[in-house]
Amino acid sequence: MNSLKGKSLLALVDYTPEEIRYLLDLSRTVKEERRSGKRPQRFKGLTLAMLFEKRSTRTRAAFETAFGEEGGHPVFLSTADIQLGAKETVEDTARVLGRMFDIIEYRGFLHETAEKLAGHAGIPVINGLTDRWHPTQALADLMTIEEHAGNLAGVRSVFIGDGRNNVSSSLIVAAGAMGLDHYVITPPELAPDPALLKTVAERQDYSGSVTVLHDPSDLPGGAAVVYTDVWISMGEEESSRERTETLRPYQVTGDLMNRAPSAIFLHCLPAVRGNEMTAEVIDGPASRVWDQAENRKHTIKAVMLAGLGLS
Ligand code: CP
Ligand code: NVA
Repeated sequence: MNSLKGKSLLALVDYTPEEIRYLLDLSRTVKEERRSGKRPQRFKGLTLAMLFEKRSTRTRAAFETAFGEEGGHPVFLSTADIQLGAKETVEDTARVLGRMFDIIEYRGFLHETAEKLAGHAGIPVINGLTDRWHPTQALADLMTIEEHAGNLAGVRSVFIGDGRNNVSSSLIVAAGAMGLDHYVITPPELAPDPALLKTVAERQDYSGSVTVLHDPSDLPGGAAVVYTDVWISMGEEESSRERTETLRPYQVTGDLMNRAPSAIFLHCLPAVRGNEMTAEVIDGPASRVWDQAENRKHTIKAVMLAGLGLS
């Protein structure tokens, strides 16, 4: 798809539903290729800079293996080791990396850092999570939901927990873009940004709906997906005790899943058993979290192929 060549992925709101559909279809193709043992060398001779300010298992592993197994050279650059933001401005780092690499992944705190990198590198920058967004996660979430439900339009999904965090915000956009009937069940003080809800509601090209509720007992009937995330996101550890108290009534339990008998359980991981969900839920028959984690790799590969003009 021509419109994606050279394009950064900082937030899904910057992509049209057609572009998201293209990436999901490409993700399915690359998943099938890998399952059938094919390893086309589409990234041969190319380099990926992987900038990490925060910890990661899935995102790092997905970028590194997806790029490496197709002949590319991924370079892990922890911000504990490089100059970014410490001895050198983000803009200068971006200019230098742009001269040496073909594509950049960035995981960190400030979304503005991702924007500065994309504004000055001259090559595509893929957001591997910031405080505001986690767009590659939302692509894997959509892929996993579609694998389960067979489609996306009209699928009823429920996110329970910290409704204003990066994962919930990205899922709200993903759901709005792809026509889901999405619910966020969250305490009033952790409700999604009203400006984000307005954007999603007013986008002419979006066909989904987003409803915010505050009482877990209002879980809508017919949910196909129940999704949660950690109660304490990276960088918010100081509000840990208070947040845990606030979110305790929002724990996903076996009883709650029984009220959504056709629903799969999703979680971006890492998960804290006994906080956002009980062990019986994440380790139980409705859980699809390992498929969801695997799909990080396929969706990230698709994003890189499209951004590099290789799809
Ligand atoms: N879901 C996710 O982003 O996992 P990591 O923090 O392990 O990368
Ligand atoms: N909301 C979580 C997601 C981790 C993948 C965080 O930002 O820590």
